[in-house]
Amino acid sequence: MNITYNNDKRIFKIDTDNSSYIIAIVDDEEFVGHVYYGPFVQDDDLSYLMRINENPRVPSVNNRDRSSFLDSFPSEYSGNNVGDYRESAIAVTDKKGHSGIQLLYKNHRIFQGKPALRGLPATFAKDSEAMTLEIEVEDRVLNVEAVLRYSIFEGSDAIVRSVSFINSSYEEIYLEKIMSMCLDMDDDNYKMLVLHGSWARERHIQYRQIGYGKQSVSSVRGESSHQEHPFIALVGENISQTTGDVYGFNFVYSGNFIAQVEKNQFDSLRIVMGIHPDNFRFKLGPKESFVCPEVVMVYSNEGLGHMTRTYHDLYRKHLIRSPYVDKPRPILINNWEATYFDFDDEKLIDIAKDAKECGIEMLVMDDGWFGRRNDDNSSLGDWKVNENKLKGGLKKLVDRVNDIGLKFGIWFEPEMISPDSDLYRKHPDWAICIPGREACRSRNQYVLDLTREEVRKYVYEAVASILRSANIQYVKWDMNRQLTDIGSAAIDSDRQGELMHRYVLAVYELQERLTNEFPDLLLENCSGGGARFDPGMLYYSPQIWCSDDTDAIERLLIQEGTALIYPLSSIGAHVSVCPNHTVGRVTPFETRGNVALAGTFGYELDITKLSAPEKTMVNEQVKMYHRYSGLVRNGDYYRIASYSSGGQIDCYMVVSKDKSEAIITFVQVLNQPNRHSIKIKIDGLDDNKKYQIEGYDKAYYGSTLKHAGLLIERPFGDFESKIIHLVEEY
Ligand code: DGJ
Repeated sequence: MNITYNNDKRIFKIDTDNSSYIIAIVDDEEFVGHVYYGPFVQDDDLSYLMRINENPRVPSVNNRDRSSFLDSFPSEYSGNNVGDYRESAIAVTDKKGHSGIQLLYKNHRIFQGKPALRGLPATFAKDSEAMTLEIEVEDRVLNVEAVLRYSIFEGSDAIVRSVSFINSSYEEIYLEKIMSMCLDMDDDNYKMLVLHGSWARERHIQYRQIGYGKQSVSSVRGESSHQEHPFIALVGENISQTTGDVYGFNFVYSGNFIAQVEKNQFDSLRIVMGIHPDNFRFKLGPKESFVCPEVVMVYSNEGLGHMTRTYHDLYRKHLIRSPYVDKPRPILINNWEATYFDFDDEKLIDIAKDAKECGIEMLVMDDGWFGRRNDDNSSLGDWKVNENKLKGGLKKLVDRVNDIGLKFGIWFEPEMISPDSDLYRKHPDWAICIPGREACRSRNQYVLDLTREEVRKYVYEAVASILRSANIQYVKWDMNRQLTDIGSAAIDSDRQGELMHRYVLAVYELQERLTNEFPDLLLENCSGGGARFDPGMLYYSPQIWCSDDTDAIERLLIQEGTALIYPLSSIGAHVSVCPNHTVGRVTPFETRGNVALAGTFGYELDITKLSAPEKTMVNEQVKMYHRYSGLVRNGDYYRIASYSSGGQIDCYMVVSKDKSEAIITFVQVLNQPNRHSIKIKIDGLDDNKKYQIEGYDKAYYGSTLKHAGLLIERPFGDFESKIIHLVEEY
């Protein structure tokens, strides 16, 4: 890891272990240009790559064709309305209504460490573990400045970028758009890898061709969303788990975003990522500043696998702050699919007793414990225990559950308000809406205007006072609708465009306060399943509910896409009953457990209704979780085969960092008649270590398992699976 500045050539070079990123200051006007991003190179002066000695040449030589220069110059952070017709990284309106902006070099600093970002989740590191380059740029007409920030981490191939904007002028200015990164590079027949989805089908891996013009993924839903994910990767033609070029970009933010690739007339690509400019307009008074969320870029020339493991390691070490990040999580049972809204204290106690017998460690009480909430039409905002359901109150229930020997967790949906609630009757203006226009309902609820301090205060106290009232060790923080009708009764007319971003900052502020007051609380974020599974939320909670779809086969697709970037230790995964509540599919109990093992293992079913053999299986699965959870939480993830790419099997491995132990999860989706056994080639073991493999009578070297492979007998039946344990032979 190193960052250098070549004073003679005016070149910055950022080196991770295996990649280099080069920036140059160009021409008399000091344009900040992008030179190179790719495999590690020794030279820093690669400025020939910018083609500035070709026509149209730089403005000091040929100002007549300035626009031709600006429209093709690989810019590190593109301006707006001054000659570059490609996507601008920033757009402003000044007091006179003009919108030109061009940010040119002013200064820079290189230092040890990684700065925090005001009010935002961000990667962190000790000074000895990271280095940062900050390039100050300025618009010399508007008198505004920005800081382009690049951080790298010891032993990691990630480069984290962010931008801060400072209005150093004496006038107000409106930010109309501000991207967190801009990257110009030549196209090399890249494809775009995106994670597309829907409710119950989140983050399926998809590939797109890159054509001329603009192509993007985005969300304007106020959250990162089920539909599109704040991640893209550009992948080379021969991409596989072990080969090919990959450039990954992941946005550390939980609101509106855009990630766009533009291919221009000269076959170069401009990639931008940042807060979506729709419904965004931020007013900055003199000396006020705006901090953009950060983007985590990872380059790998060893295929998708190296990118995945780089993200996993970075997020486990430098993003997830919770003390649970490397601790075993309690195996929980959640009553949602068991009872939905139809439960009382006795039902929960019955579940807790049977759960305890099976070795489960925590009961989570889901939606329906407060107000008059017997369905999803009312009471959000009225966070008072419904004593008709929980007789004697919450503390009594929690104590009884604790006496049985289980921890207790609780569900909240703090950001919402039901039209049928005491809170709404008292404060109808607390809902986000456009005055005079009936706001759109979704799940019959509105979103609270968390940009208002009094609303945040109410919400925080509502949640915190419940947590203070009993021994509650886990919170599931849910969010079941997306934002629309963006308007606040309390914000000035010229600041309404700030609401979407201020809303996200408010959610962060609430979770920051909560995790500070309750440092040992295990927080799990959730949004109608996995609509807010993003790095922003991981900063506050070590695990996120991955999807409302608990069907083991659909989960293969969802969890593969999620694990492409996020560590298994963050993926909320539970065993539920069959026929599955979402798809009606019947899968073996064992497979449901094996698939949930690649996450924060738990149950989502009425355990009192399980048969005796099923309860025995729960017991066995609990033991399996305890045996392997350390490996799953801390190990390296290798994808072996994918059901998502049309295969009949799904297969992945987690191997310990010292490569002494591994588990392989093998799922046969559909069986086929009259076929040989299945050969898997296992990359990721130590070539020179010999491994004993559970179920096989001979040990093999890692190199043999990688090149010659292992034969797996086909199980008889669809949806059958097995966990194969490998240990180093001594
Ligand atoms: C959506 C969540 O994803 C579910 O697990 C459950 O908590 C429901 N909300 C409750 O309304």
